[in-house]
Amino acid sequence: MTVITKESPFKIVFVCLGNICRSPTAEGIFQHLVNERELDPYFYVDSAGTSAYHIGEPANSKSQKLANEHGIELRSRARQFEKNDLEEFDLIVAMDRENLANIKSLDGSKDYEEKIVLLRDFDPNPGDGEVPDPYFGGMDGFKNVFDIVKRSCEALLDELEEKVSR
Ligand code: 4NP
Repeated sequence: MTVITKESPFKIVFVCLGNICRSPTAEGIFQHLVNERELDPYFYVDSAGTSAYHIGEPANSKSQKLANEHGIELRSRARQFEKNDLEEFDLIVAMDRENLANIKSLDGSKDYEEKIVLLRDFDPNPGDGEVPDPYFGGMDGFKNVFDIVKRSCEALLDELEEKVSR
């Protein structure tokens, strides 16, 4: 059983395709929840993309606007998920099945399978199990992503908080 302590913080990374819409939103919301629950010393939160399309870019302006309306700042700069991240992180949370498969394909062995999951595995209302890609659509799609990510992150942190030894 994992025990999360200040000496050994839990490292979590959220992963989408571009690292400019869904995973920065998840990183921002999860970090915000961690701060609200005064769990900051116990978690290290990051995000990444499986593609190299947007390396170095800040989060999409629509994602930022929605987050700001909820008192959340998105501070990410896009980076590509690397093979080394499989070792580095305790939990790797993919936004959809394509990204999940791409993360798993970075390592031929099955060593890391258990810690690679879908965010909507934690969603109390999981729909088709994926956080839909909002990039080519309008504000409604981004709002939908925000709502899905928020309730999924709350449920995920509820589970992880039980492992924290304060
Ligand atoms: P994200 O959204 O994976 O949620 O960051 C996308 C961003 C960029 C692209 C696709 C999805 N793109 O094709 O450039």
